[in-house]
Formats: sequence, structure tokens, C-alpha cells
Amino acid sequence: MKNVNFKELKQEYKDLVQSAEEASHKAYNPYSDIAVGAAILTKNNKIIKGANIENASFRLSICAEQSALAQANILGENDFKAIAIISSLEGVITPCGACRQMLFEFFQRSGIDFDIIMSNKDKTKAIIAKVSELLPLAFNLKNFKL
Ligand code: THU
Repeated sequence: MKNVNFKELKQEYKDLVQSAEEASHKAYNPYSDIAVGAAILTKNNKIIKGANIENASFRLSICAEQSALAQANILGENDFKAIAIISSLEGVITPCGACRQMLFEFFQRSGIDFDIIMSNKDKTKAIIAKVSELLPLAFNLKNFKL
């Protein structure tokens, strides 16, 4: 896990954050007014975007990361190099616990411990971490006998 100056990111990751920012403009967020965008960079260099989708029954809201993962699945693009996340909040956004578990599943599925690039609204700061770092001791059915 590393805190970095946004400028230090490689160009591919800066572009990915840019895609996440574009996706955040599609957020459906009438309740929180917080816009979150996610963009996945696949092994085939495709970019798959997602944004948060809220619901009047608040707990049914879907996070940006989850909407991007659902899209990746339907496109058959499940091997990731990285996912970038950005929001309308001042600070660097970090994925919620549920999203960490969902991201972990795609690490298990592909065997690739991909990068998570988290950025602040102004794209000045970033944190980069591997999925495994964000969810130590993850619930993982590989550890159990079914
Ligand atoms: N949200 C995300 O989209 N991703 C996260 O990792 C954290 C939270 C959304 C859910 C909700 O629409 C809004 O941010 C406020 O919680």
C-alpha cells in the first residue's frame, strides 16, 4: 500500500482515473449526492466503467465498484490489471467493506492480485494497494471444504 502524489502515477493509471471520473458523472445519487466512479483496466486493455446507483430503500444502493464488476462479468472480461476509484468527496475514497469482498472474488477468480488506485476529487493524491492488502483474512471458500 502506497500513498503517492497523483503526478507520480504511470500514464496508464492516470488515464484510468480519468475514466473513473467520467463514469462518476453517471452516478444516480439523489440521496447522498456523493458521486462515485470506478474504471477497471482489463488484461486485454479494455476499460469498463461503473457508477453508484442509489435506491429509496437506502441499503439497496449499489456502489460504483459493484456496478463496474457486474459489467465486466457480462462482457466476459474478468482478468483485471487494475481498478481506479474516484468520488466527489474531497479526500481519497477507499472502497467499502462489501466492495473489498467483491473485488477479492475477482482476484480469486483470475489469480491476479490487481491494483486498486484510489484518488481524491482534485486528482492530486492517490493511494495504490493490491486487493489482498485491502482485505486481509478475507472470507474465501478456498480455505474451507464444501
Ligand atoms: N459508494 C461507492 O459507490 N463506493 C464505495 O466504495 C463507497 C460508497 C457510494 C454508495 C452511495 O451511493 C454513496 O457512495 C454514499 O455512501
